[in-house]
Amino acid sequence: MKNKTESNLYFFYTVGCGWCKKVMPIIDELNKEGHDILKLDLAEKENKEIVDELKKKYKPVGSNKPKETDEQAIERIAARFAILDEMADAVATSKVRAMIVSGPPGIGKSYGVEKALEKQNMFTDIAGEKRKFEMVKGAMSAIGLYKKLYEYKDKGCVCCFDDCDAILYDDLALNLLKAALDTTPRRSLHWNTESRTLQAEGMPNSFEFNGGVIFITNIKFDNVKSKKLQDHLAALQSRCHYLDLTIDSMKDRMLRIRQICGIGMLDKYHMKPELQEELIQFIYNNKHKLREISLRMVLKIADLWKMAPEKWKLLAEQTCMRPAREMYDLRTGAKL
Ligand SMILES: Nc1ncnc2c1ncn2[C@@H]1O[C@H](COP(=O)(O)OP(=O)(O)OP(=O)(O)O)[C@@H](O)[C@H]1O
Ligand SMILES: [Mg+2]
Repeated sequence: MKNKTESNLYFFYTVGCGWCKKVMPIIDELNKEGHDILKLDLAEKENKEIVDELKKKYKPVGSNKPKETDEQAIERIAARFAILDEMADAVATSKVRAMIVSGPPGIGKSYGVEKALEKQNMFTDIAGEKRKFEMVKGAMSAIGLYKKLYEYKDKGCVCCFDDCDAILYDDLALNLLKAALDTTPRRSLHWNTESRTLQAEGMPNSFEFNGGVIFITNIKFDNVKSKKLQDHLAALQSRCHYLDLTIDSMKDRMLRIRQICGIGMLDKYHMKPELQEELIQFIYNNKHKLREISLRMVLKIADLWKMAPEKWKLLAEQTCMRPAREMYDLRTGAKL
């Protein structure tokens, strides 16, 4: 048998690891095709020694790259969110017709868009005119969508659908949204079936849509499993700007929290700076136990502090953390 350190390609695995299990059949397939990949179980001491030996011999890929500092990472994250503000502003000022924003919960998507739209609303409020922008949240039927789009059909108006994912699962609503987002010079929307609601409200069965649309969702378009939905989402994506605000790593999520706390998110609580720091540190120390790591979680815990400054940590453990039985290591599936 070949000496273990003579192989050119190694696959190190652990038995309990879900990812290793997924990759194993591919490795076997490659070996069947004639490749020579040596599979080594990391539970064996001897194999761990091989890893150390290889690490000494070869530097891991990317290890020569200068490490990003926290300040640089905060700047990188802030720059991505600045694009959200800019794009929302561009839709509000009719420079861009439509955009889709996706990202995990509680990171500031709605806040950013709402701020940009509110800024524009201020002018109409001062002039005493009807507001040109609206954030529509929650459930949305196809007819509800048709009516909203009609209400905001004029140039300069913007309708923002925030967490209205039901639209994506309803063929009729989805087709209306596609028509509204289309890049053609004329965007005509039709309601082809008889509708008493439309008649009662004096609405036509078709109209031209010249407004702007912002669609905010937690669905990461590139990760959707259903083939049918994938195709629909691709059609939407092709029609407008798509901004993915996914913050993948725990480090980046914590830095997003630091960034926004740094620009005063907790000011309204009148906490001392040391306490703000203690709160952020508490979140960091409990990052695997908390139900989510988000700005919303920071605000929830700050509320608990305001409610009971002497026992906020205890309250946070009870209300913001997963019960112990739910805690598993996401990589190995092992109980924590
Ligand atoms: N720049 C900011 N300054 C102050 N507070 C902020 C800022 N960004 C977000 N927040 C606060 O953080 C909380 C979460 O933000 P937001 O509601 O925008 O998240 P989201 O990404 O839209 O989440 P979801 O997908 O669940 O709707 C809100 O209470 C919001 O007020
Ligand atoms: Mg939101």
